[in-house]
Parts: sequence; C-alpha cells; structure tokens
Amino acid sequence: MRMVDLIEKKRDGRELSTEEINYIIKGYTEGDIPDYQVSALTMAIYFQGMTEKERADLTMAMVESGEQIDLSKIEGVKVDKHSTGGVGDTTTLVLGPLVASVGVPVAKMSGRGLGHTGGTIDKLESISGFHVEITKEEFITLVNQNKLAVIGQTGNLTPADKKLYALRDVTATVDSVPLIASSIMSKKIAAGADCIVLDVKTGAGAFMKTVEDARELAKAMVRIGNNVGRKTMAIISDMSQPLGFAIGNALEVKEAIDTLKGEGPEDLTELCLTLGSHMVLLAKKASNIEEARALLEEAIKNGKALETFKIFLQAQGGDPTVVDDPAKLPQAKFTFELEAQEDGYVTEMVADEIGTAAMLLGAGRATKDSIIDLAVGFVLHKKIGDGVKKGESLLTIHSNSEDISAVKESLYQNIKVSKVETKAPILIHEEIT
Ligand code: URA
Ligand code: CA
Repeated sequence: MRMVDLIEKKRDGRELSTEEINYIIKGYTEGDIPDYQVSALTMAIYFQGMTEKERADLTMAMVESGEQIDLSKIEGVKVDKHSTGGVGDTTTLVLGPLVASVGVPVAKMSGRGLGHTGGTIDKLESISGFHVEITKEEFITLVNQNKLAVIGQTGNLTPADKKLYALRDVTATVDSVPLIASSIMSKKIAAGADCIVLDVKTGAGAFMKTVEDARELAKAMVRIGNNVGRKTMAIISDMSQPLGFAIGNALEVKEAIDTLKGEGPEDLTELCLTLGSHMVLLAKKASNIEEARALLEEAIKNGKALETFKIFLQAQGGDPTVVDDPAKLPQAKFTFELEAQEDGYVTEMVADEIGTAAMLLGAGRATKDSIIDLAVGFVLHKKIGDGVKKGESLLTIHSNSEDISAVKESLYQNIKVSKVETKAPILIHEEIT
C-alpha cells in the first residue's frame, strides 16, 4: 500500500477500506507516514467528507492505537457522559453523584485541560485533601464500593488522536464533522464506556454555533457509537449564555452542592435531570425515561445524592464537611458587584466572552503551565430574559485582585441590557438517538 494512492483516492471522493484506514493510522502513529502526507489526507477529508463506515473505522483505528481502559471488573453497565465544551458547565460534578446514588456505576477519567475554568479535577481539588492520584486497582475497587470514583488521565490513550489533532490544529482541518466526531468518540471508547450520553452544546459559548451544526455533529457521534457497539445518544443543549449561575472552580463546586440539595439553578438542574435520566436508562436501572427521572428526583429529595457525594469525597481524601459548610471552600479576598447601567431586560450574555473574562481573573488556564486560582470567578444574578433595574447587580465578581477594571469592561461589553423584552433561550433543543 502507498500513502500517495490513498490520498488520491480520498481526494477523488472514493471510500477508503478498513485495511487502508488501519494502515494510515498505524503508520502515522509509528512515525512511518510523515505529517505532510497526513495533512494532505485530512484536507481531502475536509472537502470530501467520510462515509459512515469510514468514520467507524477511523474511530476504532484510533482507539486501537494505544492503551484501552479495562472496566470489566466493575459490576453493571458503565455509562459515560461527554459534554462538548462550554462555559460554567457544572454538569459533571452534579451528574456523577446523582446517577451513582441510584446505582449507576460512574468510573470517571478526567483531565485538567485548558479553558475558561479548570477541568473537573481542578474543580474537585478545591475541596481540601481531595486527590485523584489513585491506582487503577483502587479506582475499580472504589467504583464497585461507592459507584463513583475519579482518576486522572493515565496511560497512553489514543496517541493517534493526539498526533492527528495537533496536526489538524495547524493545517486548518479541525473544523470537519467526521474528524471531530471520531476524535471525541475514540477517547470515550478507549476510556472503557459501554454506553455514552453526549451533551452537544450550541450557541456563542460552544464549538458549534448553530443548532444545525450541533445536530450534524451529534448525529455523526451517535452513529459512530452505535456502529461500533456502544449504545450512544445525544442531547443538544444551549450554551448561548453560561449554564447555571457559577463560573469558577470552587464556585462551581458550591453550585453543584446546591443542585444536589435541590436548591440549584433551574437550567443546570433541568439539564442534569435530562442527561441523568438517559444515563440511568442506558444503565438499565429504569425501564423508561419517566421512571429514570423520578428515581433521580427522589435521590435529590431524600438526600441520597448528597450523601453519595460525601462518601465519594471522603474515599479520595477530601473533606466531606464542605458539603454542609461550603464556606470551607477557597474564598476570594474581594467581591464586587457588576451593576446594571440602565433599566431593561437582559438580552445577551455572550458565554465564551464571559468565560474568557473569568480566565482573566485567574479561574482558567491560558497555557498548560498556568496556575489556576480556585477561588475566583463569577456568580450571575440575572440571565437572558430577566428584568433588571439600574444599579441592581447583574453578577458578583469574586477576585483576589483589587484591579478588575479590564474584567468589568469586558463584562459590560458582553452582557447587554435593553428595553426590548426577551425570552429565555431554549435549554434543550432536541434528542438524537
Ligand atoms: N475536541 C476533540 O476532542 N477533538 C476534536 O477534533 C475537536 C474537539
Ligand atoms: Ca455553572
């Protein structure tokens, strides 16, 4: 087989076989096929697309390029959830304990990553003593005992995806649905999921700005999952404004605790109940979606979800008393109110720009080596559609620096108040199975 022939084949819009895709991914991972040939191929894919069979083959070739996590010693159906990025997205912190409390095993491998706030692990580390440096054996034992554990990224998972993603980043080929879909799905499958619930975000704060684009990506991922034998479904949800009220690490932990108590923001609660119900259903802990939702609502009401969170924290060295006393979480030195400059309605809260402002405060990483300030961030008091009076607080800024003029300026630019009455955006656009 010659790589140049395969590039030509894709360039002309013909379908690559399983053997050909395996040859490319193996050759690239092992360094036998050079970057320049693979970049020509990804550009051909960008223009010609991939068939359903090619997408499944590419996904599995990337899964097989590295280590795969073996979760077979965990009892029950392992359901993983993946959100395609967002701002102030506290769902993982809520969903873990929530679905675990009704018996769904949650074996979460998580990262830190770059972004507006830290990843799930950074957020959890705002709880004194909590750590994810556990062995794979401990991880499996904890999931069997408590139905929930979180481990840091271990092993060499999907090296082909790492190499390919870095190449796409500098060759203008990130923005291709088959390549994005196979990239995301390969990581979930290598991490050992039996079933996958996807939360595909749409709007200003999302990768996919329109519902049409989000639907195309969601369908592509659902097809890949189902074609390679992992039951997969997707929800398309709003990310035109930040989710919930809190954006920031410790602030989101507090928000997750509130939500597990049944006192969280409406949108975050609704999205968690929706995603959670599908996880419960896929894990076969309920026979229909209504029953699944009722189980979760009951776990919030009777305190089981919160209790599961405490047990999970304690098992990984964390101080469980923060759940009853969130003042024990890291606190910023200063708080400032962002006051509305006129009467009216909030018509816009540009999620990604608000996220960037949180990063400016220190809540997230701009580069891999940046140090995160776990205490800082924003707590929104208003969301799109809410009425507001001049001088009323739109949000509270939690900062460790007194000079927040740049942050305030950016927030004013990206939170619009006008006289025009506006409806709250639709939270959940559709389900794709
Ligand atoms: N996120 C991923 O993991 N992969 C992509 O290709 C794009 C976004
Ligand atoms: Ca939030």
